[in-house]
Amino acid sequence: MIHHADPTPETLPEKNISPERMAQAARIIGGGGIVAVPTETVYGLAANATHETGVRRIFRAKGRPACNPLIVHVSDISMAARYAVIPREAHMLAARFWPGPLTLVLKRRPGSGLSTPVTSGLDTIALRIPAHPVARMLIREAHCPLAAPSANRSGCVSPTTAAHVQTSLGTDVDMILDGGPCRIGIESTIVALDGTTPVLLRPGSITRHQIEECTGRKTGETGRRQKPQAPGMMESHYAPSVPVRLEAAGPEPAEAFLAFGKTAFTGPHIRNLSPGGDPDEAAASLFSCLHDLDAVCTAYGLEGIAVAPVPQQGAGEAVNDRLARAAFPRQPDASSCRTP
Ligand code: TXA
Ligand code: MG
Repeated sequence: MIHHADPTPETLPEKNISPERMAQAARIIGGGGIVAVPTETVYGLAANATHETGVRRIFRAKGRPACNPLIVHVSDISMAARYAVIPREAHMLAARFWPGPLTLVLKRRPGSGLSTPVTSGLDTIALRIPAHPVARMLIREAHCPLAAPSANRSGCVSPTTAAHVQTSLGTDVDMILDGGPCRIGIESTIVALDGTTPVLLRPGSITRHQIEECTGRKTGETGRRQKPQAPGMMESHYAPSVPVRLEAAGPEPAEAFLAFGKTAFTGPHIRNLSPGGDPDEAAASLFSCLHDLDAVCTAYGLEGIAVAPVPQQGAGEAVNDRLARAAFPRQPDASSCRTP
């Protein structure tokens, strides 16, 4: 039976999460409901990964294609080992980066009780141990692995605040736990370890260099990999409702501008990813800036967002990956991304 939290939608903001509220969230998860939960990367839309009703509701609420598998969040490595085969390199990466913004794609253990749609029928599974205390507490209190994609409509910009979730998914979720803004701000680094070479499927705040240093091996390129289809591999992703133009020296008259480092431009239609030119700060503010500028474009009748170049160093690779997807010609449904 689906437990609906309240007949009325959650009111925001609500920065303090009480034990009662956590217990209520755990009950919703247990009953096959869906709860938006803060993680250190972005907000996730969580359901019990062993409960088919909850898992199907995630796909429905996001408008996510059934062929795009979900990340399963667990509390520790022994819980991870229930669902996947953990090779030596996975142990090395887990020891260094878990709990944290790293997802590992591993060979799935068949018959472990996960609902089939979670992995979209693949023989692999994406696992992550989150660091955020609220996400960790929810796994513990719900006593189950949590399937949780980013809590946005499919193809739209990922949420880094509870308000973003509210705007994007609104009453389609049973509860939104508000943990304030996400510290890292872009989704986890995804590394596949189900084959002979580690493959970086999605860059993130843990850099390729850090992964290679930890395993002592070069990571393969996503493009050489045939299957499974990886993260956000559909090129148009993270799309605001207006076109995005990259490598811009400044805004055209009808554009908002997303700067990086020192800039001469000022005004209500200007945001800066990092005035000091720090790639980690840029990652942390990227989605918030895109959400903001999307709303600014609506408010001021602007037609697009111009973005300054961001260097590839460190988390810059991940920032540029998300920006390239934001700039890619939109999917038919991207215009349905809601702006506040
Ligand atoms: O930081 C994050 O990773 C956030 C938080 C909530 O944990 N989650 C997130 O989930 O970004 P999502 O669903 O938006 O992105 C996960 C990506 C998907 O694009 C999916 O294609 C990929 O992970 N994925 C999941 N299972 C996979 C698998 N078995 N093989 C390859 N890719 C997989
Ligand atoms: Mg996503």
